[in-house]
Amino acid sequence: MCGIAGYVGPKPAVGIVFDQLKRLEYRGYDSAGIAVMEKDQIKVLKRAGKLKELGSLLEEHPSDAHLAIAHSRWATHGGPTDENAHPHYDAYEQIAIIHNGIIENYLELKEELLANGHKFRSQTDTEVAAHIIGEEYQRADSLEEAVKRGVKRLRGAYALVVVSKKEPGKIVAVRNASPLVIGLGKGENMLASDIPALLPYTREIIILEEDTIAVLEDDKVRLMDGDGRELPIKVQHVEWDVAAAERGGYEHFMLKEIHEQPEVIRQCMAGRIDEAEGIRFESIFSEHVWNEIDRVNIIACGTAYHAGLMGKHLFEKVLRLPTDVYYSSEFRYGDPVLSPKSLAIFVSQSGETADTLAALRLCKSRRIRTLGIVNVIGSSIARECDRTIFTQAGPEISVASTKAYTAQVLVLTLLALHIAQVQEAPGIRVEEWIEELLRLPEKAKAALDLESEVKEVAEECKNMPLCFFLGRGADAAVALEAALKLKEVAYVPTQESPAGEMKHGPLALVQPGVVSVFGATDPSTLDKVVSNMKEVQARGGAVIAITTQDDTTIQKAADRTLKVPSTPFEFLNAVLSIVPLQLFAYHVARLNNCEIDQPRNLAKSVTVE
Ligand code: G6P
Repeated sequence: MCGIAGYVGPKPAVGIVFDQLKRLEYRGYDSAGIAVMEKDQIKVLKRAGKLKELGSLLEEHPSDAHLAIAHSRWATHGGPTDENAHPHYDAYEQIAIIHNGIIENYLELKEELLANGHKFRSQTDTEVAAHIIGEEYQRADSLEEAVKRGVKRLRGAYALVVVSKKEPGKIVAVRNASPLVIGLGKGENMLASDIPALLPYTREIIILEEDTIAVLEDDKVRLMDGDGRELPIKVQHVEWDVAAAERGGYEHFMLKEIHEQPEVIRQCMAGRIDEAEGIRFESIFSEHVWNEIDRVNIIACGTAYHAGLMGKHLFEKVLRLPTDVYYSSEFRYGDPVLSPKSLAIFVSQSGETADTLAALRLCKSRRIRTLGIVNVIGSSIARECDRTIFTQAGPEISVASTKAYTAQVLVLTLLALHIAQVQEAPGIRVEEWIEELLRLPEKAKAALDLESEVKEVAEECKNMPLCFFLGRGADAAVALEAALKLKEVAYVPTQESPAGEMKHGPLALVQPGVVSVFGATDPSTLDKVVSNMKEVQARGGAVIAITTQDDTTIQKAADRTLKVPSTPFEFLNAVLSIVPLQLFAYHVARLNNCEIDQPRNLAKSVTVE
């Protein structure tokens, strides 16, 4: 999510790592910093804001050091400030570390460290990791040994890069679920979170495997596993040009972001599911507030609004909590009737959408409690809501939102379960939900495996004049998002509605050539959906169905069937069904040579009213 760069070798390291960070700018960031090895001292320089801020700081402090590590941060814990920017020192200022990802158990560790007299300068989980590794370093005979022991105490997804003033020619890195690549040069070695940073310097790359520790010196690179056993080195020669490398080798950011979803689901749950406590959030309303709330209003635009519809489904069906979903632009001018005991939830990827922000200010002026579900830390909506839960999806670059949607739906799911726990709501199988949520990344991966089938379907439908998206229950909410994706990126006219509404008008548009995509993942309504499919087929329309792997009913009725993994919860089946539907929009757009990442007339963040 954030950018990592590091260099050790004969050349001036600062210029190189700064250039490497610049090559990761497309990922987005809110602050940046560098640790420079100056003789036997580590100098840390860091600044909130754009890279040029760090650039000015580096000009004020020139250095010809031969080892440096650098980081551009995209905040997850603690706002984008100078203090929270990386690198972070340990308690003894012996080591400095940079970090991508999330340390899930940082609060427990922080409490333990505070009790032992540690003091912290930032609100980050990274500084906690620095202190943990620093503590281990007091007892270890090398930096790699300290890292090896330290990470055994950390839980979560991370890539960590560590330097020590006691071992000034060495960079130690470790990877657990957050990417890290090493670049090999002659008499110099380097590392980065992403290949584009390294391409001007080398094309000989080692992609660090899970749970691997790497030790970089100017003349050698060593790899070891979590128990300190040396591992063989597999060097790859990279042929990609810079633009392809930025997209991780994918043809478009949209496709890359669709494929990131299993990881995003994991990141979104990181630190929020605890075996003993169940679902918890770092900063959320207390118990009495949840017991008082009589109604929820979810307010958002575009894809975030569609995530809100999924939230309504869950809140009402599972929690029996009355919930309405509003378009922000309608809400703010609609003179809404608001119960003083209600909660207004604002869902926004960017946290800057003008209408959503205005709706938030309206609620605040009426003294309604507000909660943000936002991706960008430090954004206006995140700052102005009473409480905010971050989706932790990482920067989203494609204008058409994919991974942010999934993360928003997941946060709403976790929130519903958290409220259920607090209210001790009867009949909600929170443990069973948690078990299933923990399986969701794997199931999302299996849903991505449908891609070759989706491509075939896209090829068959690429010239459709109109595409219907239909479903019942949660599938109807997913249908709206699936239709938006196809409209946005492939410019195909769509008609989306609950399947039961077809007969009341939309059916008049069905004729040969028109395609109808049915979400059919809820076992309780399959028979009704089959009837709706028949109505379409009787008028010459083609039917594509998204159903679950254990289905035997739908596949007999549809012309084409795509099956996502089954879960015990119809809601989660629907969550998974968006994956092939996003891929469908993508592949239809690709076959029609559309501008996928920047569709005509659209913007990623709409900050005008
Ligand atoms: C724009 C984007 C959409 C997004 C909507 C709301 O229209 O193109 O992808 O869903 O804004 O943005 P937000 O940042 O508030 O989620």
